[in-house]
Amino acid sequence: MEELELKSVVKVCQLEELTAEEQHLVEQAIEATGRSYAPYSNFHVGAAVRLENGVEVIGCNQENAAYPLSLCAERTALFSAGAQYPDVPVGMLAIAARGADGILQDEPVTPCGSCRQVILEFETRAKHPIRILLYGRKYIYVIDGIRQLMPLSFSEF
Ligand code: THU
Repeated sequence: MEELELKSVVKVCQLEELTAEEQHLVEQAIEATGRSYAPYSNFHVGAAVRLENGVEVIGCNQENAAYPLSLCAERTALFSAGAQYPDVPVGMLAIAARGADGILQDEPVTPCGSCRQVILEFETRAKHPIRILLYGRKYIYVIDGIRQLMPLSFSEF
């Protein structure tokens, strides 16, 4: 049987290595962690989207006593951007998170599978890859396009 090895490229850097626009977006994601409604998990996630027209849209996780109804920060930001600017491609997405202690996570927070699928749809719809900035206090992951996190993804049929 043939074996297929699938490759992902994730860059690792410090905040200062990002462009001014990227740093600003990361700061917006950090700020958005403070608006999260997460009384059940106490895991406060912030996301910020930068559209190709320069507009930034933030989101944060929104939980519910009926747990499965909760929505992640990434989807809150993306769906808000999609509602307000349906025809403008998303250029970048930054994500950050704080634990119950209120301290920003040391390691980058990475999007869940459902958010990856939604990010993929935004890319496919706009025919535009999204640069993803995952913030951690120790280092930041920079990912050029969600396909790097989704081998063998399902988008078109
Ligand atoms: N969460 C996000 O908002 N984004 C992620 O990338 C990971 C998880 C939220 C969902 C839930 O409100 C809490 O974090 C704990 O899973």
